[in-house]
Amino acid sequence: MRTKIRPASLGDIDSIVEIENSTNLMPWTKAQFISSMEVGHYSTVLEYDEAIIGFAIYSPVIPESHLLNIAIDPAYHRKGLGDKLLKHVILQNKVIGVKVITLEVRVSNLIAINLYEKNGFYKDAIRQNYYSGPEKEDALLMSLKI
Ligand SMILES: CC(C)(COP(=O)(O)OP(=O)(O)OC[C@H]1O[C@@H](n2cnc3c(N)ncnc32)[C@H](O)[C@@H]1OP(=O)(O)O)[C@@H](O)C(=O)NCCC(=O)NCCS
Repeated sequence: MRTKIRPASLGDIDSIVEIENSTNLMPWTKAQFISSMEVGHYSTVLEYDEAIIGFAIYSPVIPESHLLNIAIDPAYHRKGLGDKLLKHVILQNKVIGVKVITLEVRVSNLIAINLYEKNGFYKDAIRQNYYSGPEKEDALLMSLKI
């Protein structure tokens, strides 16, 4: 098996930050990832040939769970790995008793929106100017009942 999905630990953070910096317009800092783990968010990594090439972070407050971040190293895009990781996250949430997963995504991020819709997420609402930075952008709120 070339891929493996496992819980993340502090030792994985440098690899996670590298992927984050190459995929997110407004990347989380290393300190934010550490604090996310410390406050008890669930962090998962996807390994390919034993190298970390993806991660996902979610925060379950049963019966809801908020998908906070998910990314795949650009060198491994379009190989079905984001889909695999998201399906794993959905299953893990189901196992712990989550009934609905919510998330926000940039309205321009059609690739991620496609991924979420492919996995059954619905478009619920738009939150205006949710993303700050040099150019503000609206967020699309999506959810999946599981
Ligand atoms: C979103 C992301 C995780 C998808 O990862 P990936 O491994 O390339 O995706 P997959 O190969 O598993 O593709 C799964 C689905 O995503 C969608 N998708 C992926 N790449 C796409 C592209 N270039 N164009 C359109 N849709 C695309 C499709 O629905 C695809 O299903 P299909 O292959 O049946 O068409 C990846 O693009 C990424 O890391 N993006 C940057 C981080 C990000 O935007 N995260 C979401 C924040 S809310």
